[in-house]
Amino acid sequence: MSDFHYKNGELYTENVPVKTLAEQYGTPLYVYSAAHLRTQAGQLKTTLSQHLPADANAPLICFACKANSNIAVLDLLKQEGLGTDIVSLGEYTRARQAGISPDKIVFSGVGKTDTEIETVLKNGIHQINVESEPELERIARIAEKHKITAPVAFRFNPDVDAKTHAKITTGKHENKFGLTRDALIALYQKADAHAFIAPKGITSHIGSQLTAVTPFKDAFTRMRDLVEMLRAMDMPVTRIDIGGGLGITYTDETPPDLDDYARMVAEIIAPLGTQIILEPGRFIAGNCGILVSQVVHVKQGEKKHYLILDAGMNDLARPSIYDAYHPVMPVLENKAAEHIAYDIVGPVCETGDTFGKNIPLPVMEEDDFVAMTSSGAYGFVMASNYNTRPLPAEILVDGDTHKLIRRRQTVDDILALEIDI
Ligand SMILES: Cc1ncc(COP(=O)(O)O)c(C=O)c1O
Repeated sequence: MSDFHYKNGELYTENVPVKTLAEQYGTPLYVYSAAHLRTQAGQLKTTLSQHLPADANAPLICFACKANSNIAVLDLLKQEGLGTDIVSLGEYTRARQAGISPDKIVFSGVGKTDTEIETVLKNGIHQINVESEPELERIARIAEKHKITAPVAFRFNPDVDAKTHAKITTGKHENKFGLTRDALIALYQKADAHAFIAPKGITSHIGSQLTAVTPFKDAFTRMRDLVEMLRAMDMPVTRIDIGGGLGITYTDETPPDLDDYARMVAEIIAPLGTQIILEPGRFIAGNCGILVSQVVHVKQGEKKHYLILDAGMNDLARPSIYDAYHPVMPVLENKAAEHIAYDIVGPVCETGDTFGKNIPLPVMEEDDFVAMTSSGAYGFVMASNYNTRPLPAEILVDGDTHKLIRRRQTVDDILALEIDI
């Protein structure tokens, strides 16, 4: 997190002091680093190009915007040449509003509705990733009705254990995602025979926050074998979408080495001569953001010291959903030797509203600011209005400057949608 660092005892995002932002915009507050987003996008592009054959087309990197869908973030990544992987009409609308061209948008997800399919077909989409037979039938019916050919890829479930958290494992046969090899081959043939379906290739995404390389290798190998089988049946395969999943460091995890990953793509996937599509989310955005919060109270419990923050599980859900820990950094560095082990909790009425237990920190006081690191992916996007708590504001820092990229929601915003009978 070099884009977040202490200078003269204060936490900075790039060249902007975090305390200044917290005081100006209030807390809880998401703060993102533009430099970090650019670095991650650049690193992925460069590493892939170093390993792929010189004459190969550049892969299409579609940022999985479920990780962070703020329009300003999508716009910034567009300027780095990235497209978007979307899973809803809402995300499609965001991507288009950010100016992302339809030929750089892929549509994933197991439950696309008629309205969603109709809208993307009419307005343009690079491919719809099909996850089941009823979904193909639905797409075929809509495509035929509007006389628009639907470009599709089929999501392969390779039955590979991603060795990550059970709730973000997606490539085992017991998971709801994708198709087995035989089911996929049968659907591919059906699609190829349909006048308004254009099968383009296959896609697979086996899970998120992968730290081991082997599951990628196993999945890629099974994808390659499947493409060879399809081609042996004269099926046209011009694209392979290898999904996302690259892990990041939150505390002490060792993410896959990017060179190893790119080498595998070059050795296993590239020889098939297709367009290569990637859908990274967390790798691009995870370490671009912090959630800044203020200490409401320091409570001395019977057995514990509690640091009660103004951010709760509704603002950052990952600790309560995945038992994740986002390291907590005081915004003003306190070099005092005395540390206290705190349970760091939010104000929401749930015991699960806990960000960390027995976390040693310098002695903290009411009104101090803290930052929860690595919160750029699956942070704001998972925030809710639980306990009628308004959604936080979001800030994008770029060098010496910063911009408010989403204003704080108000209670009036929330209540405006309700109808008093
Ligand atoms: C289909 C698909 N693609 C890409 C991603 C992004 O994954 P990650 O953020 O781990 O790169 C996800 C996340 O769950 C996904 O479901």
